[in-house]
Amino acid sequence: MALPDHSTSGNNAATGATKKLVVVVGATGNQGGSVARRFLRDPQYAVRGLTRDPSSAAAKELEALGAEVVRADLDDVDSLKAAFAGANIIFSVTNYWEPFFRPDSRARARDLSMTCRRYAYDVEYRQGKNIADAAAAAAVDSLDDNGFLASTLSHAGRCSGGKFKDLYHFDAKADVFPDYVTAAHPKLAAKMSCIHTGFFTTSHRMLPGAYFSKLPDGTFEMCFPCSPDKPVPHLDVNADTGSFVYAVHQMPPGKAYMAGEYLSWSEFASAWAKVTGATIRYREISFDDLVDQAPDRDFGIEVALMFAYTSEPGYDGEMELLKAEDLRKAGIDCPMLTVEESLARQEWAAVLG
Ligand SMILES: NC(=O)c1ccc[n+]([C@@H]2O[C@H](COP(=O)([O-])OP(=O)(O)OC[C@H]3O[C@@H](n4cnc5c(N)ncnc54)[C@H](OP(=O)(O)O)[C@@H]3O)[C@@H](O)[C@H]2O)c1
Repeated sequence: MALPDHSTSGNNAATGATKKLVVVVGATGNQGGSVARRFLRDPQYAVRGLTRDPSSAAAKELEALGAEVVRADLDDVDSLKAAFAGANIIFSVTNYWEPFFRPDSRARARDLSMTCRRYAYDVEYRQGKNIADAAAAAAVDSLDDNGFLASTLSHAGRCSGGKFKDLYHFDAKADVFPDYVTAAHPKLAAKMSCIHTGFFTTSHRMLPGAYFSKLPDGTFEMCFPCSPDKPVPHLDVNADTGSFVYAVHQMPPGKAYMAGEYLSWSEFASAWAKVTGATIRYREISFDDLVDQAPDRDFGIEVALMFAYTSEPGYDGEMELLKAEDLRKAGIDCPMLTVEESLARQEWAAVLG
């Protein structure tokens, strides 16, 4: 697909100034959608959102908000190079869960005699590498000094001293952002910030039974294989990823961040009780208990490993990560919802009913 000439499309009619171009991977999804919307609110920026299907409802919605929507596939480096051309900022995100759940991936994994967890690692790693290779080839010179903003997570294998060898949806991200970028593309790495994202406050939709299990007496239990007191980060992915990334862009490059408010699961449960008026208690369960009650066994294993890692050493792997308060200390506005505010924006009737 031919891309419009950015030097024309990015011209700000009101001021005559050329807009900076922000290219957003995953723009039709949670993280990328939030980032695209935040930059669209600032008339200094033109937003180019990437999708495999520009005719989808999410793509059309983004276009209606003023974004240029462009077809690109994370499995096609040339499509990424074309989409990244002229970018001043690239927001990168990769999605472990799509190849994890897709029936054709499951079949392919079986053919290859590997677990779907490992298969999804390979896809996510490859797609992250494609983003980095395309950005290095097509945009490294046009990018701002802090123009490569990558969503990632801590490296569970390394941060746990080898205890967690196969927490794939963490390591697939960290193996690329920052490891591969640093090793293969030092010029791009010099313009990179790594943004770790906390547990989404909407993630209960993926694991409803463990988050909010209704007991016969009408009260609720929240059950994970994680210490009740360990603080873990929580993020309103749709409301706040954009605010956070927009703030990070105003920092110098080369730093790593955590987007999210740290609350233990007991505190999270209390916040939910306050918002809904329901009674809930947190109960730490075993790894096997979580796997047994998950809707899908492989999903159960992957998330049980995550909760165990979250308990010790911790979701952030005990890395030194800058938070929203550090951005504010640096004089940068970074509005973020509290967990309670985020939960109060959700509809709970179905869960409570
Ligand atoms: N759930 C949590 O609590 C949590 C916490 C931290 C991190 N995460 C991580 O968040 C990631 C998912 O992020 P999200 O929720 O923003 O994803 P999402 O809402 O599911 O959206 C995925 C986006 O990626 C795009 N995409 C997927 N495959 C693509 C491909 N081959 N080529 C081009 N675009 C592609 C999709 O675009 P189109 O479909 O339009 O092409 C869509 O915009 C996962 O890797 C997960 O591990 C989750």
